[in-house]
Amino acid sequence: MSSVDVTIHEILSGESHSPARSTCNSRLADAPWLFDAQPGYGPGSSERDVIPAITPRQGVLPEEYRTASAAELDLRIRAAKHTLGDRAVVLGHFYQRDEVIQYADFVGDSFQLAQAARTRPNAEALIFCGVHFMAETADMLSRPDQSVILPNLAAGCSMADMADLESVTDCWEELEEVFGTDPTADGLQPVIPVTYMNSSAALKGFCGEHGGVVCTSSNAAQVLKWALERGQRVLFFPDQHLGRNTAKKMGIPLDQMPTWNPNKPLGGNTEQQIRDAKVLLWHGFCSVHKRFTTGQIAAARAQYPSVRVIVHPECPMDVVDAADSSGSTDFIVKAIAAAPSGSVFAIGTEINLVQRLANQNPQHTIFCLDPVVCPCSTMYRIHPGYLAWVLEGFERGEVLNQIRVPESVAVPARVALERMLALAPAARPAL
Ligand code: 13P
Ligand code: SF4
Repeated sequence: MSSVDVTIHEILSGESHSPARSTCNSRLADAPWLFDAQPGYGPGSSERDVIPAITPRQGVLPEEYRTASAAELDLRIRAAKHTLGDRAVVLGHFYQRDEVIQYADFVGDSFQLAQAARTRPNAEALIFCGVHFMAETADMLSRPDQSVILPNLAAGCSMADMADLESVTDCWEELEEVFGTDPTADGLQPVIPVTYMNSSAALKGFCGEHGGVVCTSSNAAQVLKWALERGQRVLFFPDQHLGRNTAKKMGIPLDQMPTWNPNKPLGGNTEQQIRDAKVLLWHGFCSVHKRFTTGQIAAARAQYPSVRVIVHPECPMDVVDAADSSGSTDFIVKAIAAAPSGSVFAIGTEINLVQRLANQNPQHTIFCLDPVVCPCSTMYRIHPGYLAWVLEGFERGEVLNQIRVPESVAVPARVALERMLALAPAARPAL
């Protein structure tokens, strides 16, 4: 089986050799620089989400990189990496296209990659082939003399962009009007803020300043438990689905986890609903994981009665409930690695990871639950042309597209990150 890029080109040219028959957008095969100047996320899942005005835009990629062939870019990337040696480390997120992953020194989930810098003391540049919030976290966890570079500044995350500091602060002020700021007699805070790793550094800083914490999809239950031991309720942002799926598994009833719509007073709830809440779920979601449905699970089970369905907890609750298990990208990778030969897996997560797992594990049958090929449009903004541009720039002594979180934000954000690490040291990956 080939890469997702090749599959997309085959489908669009009518020469598909793979079982996949359609893509979600006919412009998926276009180069990302055709979209860089436009205020949108680009084709693929999340293209219909509204991009906030403050989202960084990528300037025009120099022509030599836009017109270079794949073979020429390959030679240039390999040459630059060879010259730079240990001075530059290329990090590749699981959802990144294979055409970029082939150059990665580390491949992993967002948190593993953010910590990779600690294992490469000689690295001066961390070239983060992922999305903006991941690069921010890497910057906050790396040494001050290390530069984190995001090859395309337009590679954001539409879910992370659904919660911004201003609207979370407005929500917090409304909650303070209802509950005040004093702890209860038993020492519980009225509300503890918990942010998913998929959020801006500013929101991680907000959590650090307000007694809150960061979580990832692999430690969300541990983090929620920690927060509910310290507060009467939790404000969880930006992903309602991760929050709901995690809290439900912990036994919290659905009527104690109302959704907070930032465009409505009290998030669209009555004061009583807010008072009764254990977890307030911000109205964010991932457009990639929202595509998965219970109908797809039923179709997979009908075709393969022995199939194991594993989905990411960013999927809607009915999908997580209908699956055999749910877990982070790392959980999915490990579940497949541990399975006996001949297993059948239907996976509900981003197509680049699923197709790569299928290629790497021919002893199993592995397929994506969604029959339509629809990659994460923001991950897809990274292309070998940008990687060549930033690597050659660094070779010349230029740090292009540096992601630098101001210390005023990074200091409280590290507090929230360290709280997570202190309660879940097992979450520290060994790279
Ligand atoms: P991980 O934290 O598992 O890398 O996932 C990031 C992400 O964006 C999931 O959609
Ligand atoms: Fe964001 Fe979803 Fe893409 Fe992950 S898959 S980077 S949550 S838009």
